[in-house]
Amino acid sequence: MAFRGKNLLTIGDLSVGEVATIMDVARKIKKKQKNGEWHQYLAGKALGMIFHKASTRTRVSFEVGFWQLGGHPIYLNEAATQMGRGEDIRDTARVLSRYVDGVMIRTFGHHIVEELARHSSVPVINGLTDKFHPCQALADIFTLIEYKGTIKGRKMTYVGDGNNMAHSLMLGCAKTGVDFVCASPKGYWPDAGVLSAARAMAAETGCTILVEEDPLKAAENADALYTDVWASMGMEQEQSIRQESLNDYQINKYLLKAAKPDAIVMHCLPAHRGEEITDEVMEGPQSAIFDQAENRLHVQKAIMALLMSDVVL
Ligand code: CP
Ligand code: NVA
Repeated sequence: MAFRGKNLLTIGDLSVGEVATIMDVARKIKKKQKNGEWHQYLAGKALGMIFHKASTRTRVSFEVGFWQLGGHPIYLNEAATQMGRGEDIRDTARVLSRYVDGVMIRTFGHHIVEELARHSSVPVINGLTDKFHPCQALADIFTLIEYKGTIKGRKMTYVGDGNNMAHSLMLGCAKTGVDFVCASPKGYWPDAGVLSAARAMAAETGCTILVEEDPLKAAENADALYTDVWASMGMEQEQSIRQESLNDYQINKYLLKAAKPDAIVMHCLPAHRGEEITDEVMEGPQSAIFDQAENRLHVQKAIMALLMSDVVL
């Protein structure tokens, strides 16, 4: 699988085989790290990490992961760089490409990441935009595999805002043959273009991608229940109206009862306990949430090793 030099802006950029390779390499890299075995495939390399939004998991897992691979990560925020003073993203892309071997970016509009990638000569990895969060969804697919083994034919139900997480999860499920249902109220449905792209992929892998208004109906027979915040970063001013509209779209013990008895509960974090998920479910035995968070590290290490080197594992 030839990965080196590619970008990862959305899961739609990856073939079915490339997603499978990421899963396989992540499993092997995770094992090596747990066993304390050498895996410094990116020794001598540098990663630029641009953050236009806050982050706990993405920043720490990319930074620690790149360092564990033997490289040097550099955290770049707006305040401490010329980006905050308006330097054009095209110029930032060309300059960083002269110094580093890859760039990870978290920003607002997805077009900013596309613009950065167009003008970069090194791989660009999307660490979240308003539209997509591919690294999180790939870590979530990896977590589902860890819990369920073969995932083709399984069902994931996402409950809440049809946001960047819903978009990347539906693409991830479509690539891996997992039935996906997004339960959202009208007005909060996922983007129609992303939905049709996911459906086209799902037709090839033999699964379905549905949108449903009734969360209880959507949860029936689910192997995984997933949720995310009602107001994403940048939407803080809509918090109260969203709280009202999405009030019935909570993962709680009643919704969990509608799913399979061994269903796992997933959340990308950060969570607003008492809003999209109850404290009880988050702390309950079916929660896979902190495994998801850990797996960001392993899956992103696989992505970076594959995009920035010729490693074959
Ligand atoms: N899930 C996730 O991306 O978390 P952060 O916003 O903390 O990076
Ligand atoms: N939908 C959330 C995900 C955070 C990881 C946001 O964009 O804020």
